[in-house]
Amino acid sequence: MTIDDIDFNALYKQHLIACNHYHLPPDKWDKKAPKMAENLVGKPSRYNAQLMAAMQMQPDETLLDIGCGPGTFAVPLAQHCRQVYALDYSTGMLAALAEFKHALQLDNLHLLHKSWADNWDDVPAADVVLASRSTLVDDLDDMIAKICAKAKKRVYLTSVTQRHFLDEGVFSAIGRDDVGFPTYIYLLNRLYQKGIQANLNFIETESGRFMGETYEDLLASVEFSLGALNEQEKQRLAEFYRQKQQHNEPIKHGQPKWALIWWDVA
Ligand SMILES: C[S@@+](CC[C@H](N)C(=O)[O-])C[C@H]1O[C@@H](n2cnc3c(N)ncnc32)[C@H](O)[C@@H]1O
Repeated sequence: MTIDDIDFNALYKQHLIACNHYHLPPDKWDKKAPKMAENLVGKPSRYNAQLMAAMQMQPDETLLDIGCGPGTFAVPLAQHCRQVYALDYSTGMLAALAEFKHALQLDNLHLLHKSWADNWDDVPAADVVLASRSTLVDDLDDMIAKICAKAKKRVYLTSVTQRHFLDEGVFSAIGRDDVGFPTYIYLLNRLYQKGIQANLNFIETESGRFMGETYEDLLASVEFSLGALNEQEKQRLAEFYRQKQQHNEPIKHGQPKWALIWWDVA
């Protein structure tokens, strides 16, 4: 057997099903929208700065931002570029983005309510295609085909390097092992198998921080990744939270590093 015998899309799908993130419904993201709008849009971060620097967007260029969220990149880039098409399947995220569009009078920012999985015939092509932290798609081949159909000049995708977004202490606290998310290596390999030799860099982030304020926020973040906890797991998580509070220790959620996968369109 050689690496060419491995179907990285099939393997990826198996992994996504195993970690309960296959067909993730948009309302899971709707709930996160207000906090993400507050924490991400217009807020300087190492992640945002490094991705912006890598993209080198020019004032005469157009952007298709897939899984745009509340506008982390769509908002600043609409202030800088010719046209921005911001696509997301979460109405909550698009509502947050619409508020920025309205407040900043961004007439060149166009909101597209669509999923990666929908028909994209009416999605405009753009000079640059971006999918930042929104590449846990159901089907890598479909994603690659859509990106290739829409990108005129350059593509930038970011993907996870670590299998968990949760503080590792959570797993020992609640007594669960979890397969975690499929990392960037599936996507990089599948691109290669599709004839795209993409570049790979890494984006270092501030050490991850749990952005919530209460135990209920922590529970919501854990259940977002792992599905519903049973009563015993909830009690153990509450004790973990109490200990962290008592010792004034941070809860380290997040990805310390993201993979940046990018290529020039030939
Ligand atoms: C972690 S947020 C990233 C937001 C923004 N791109 C950023 O980097 O800050 C992921 C976004 O992808 C969107 N998303 C997830 N799955 C999607 C899908 N299948 N189709 C379209 N958007 C999706 C979510 O609604 C959410 O807004």
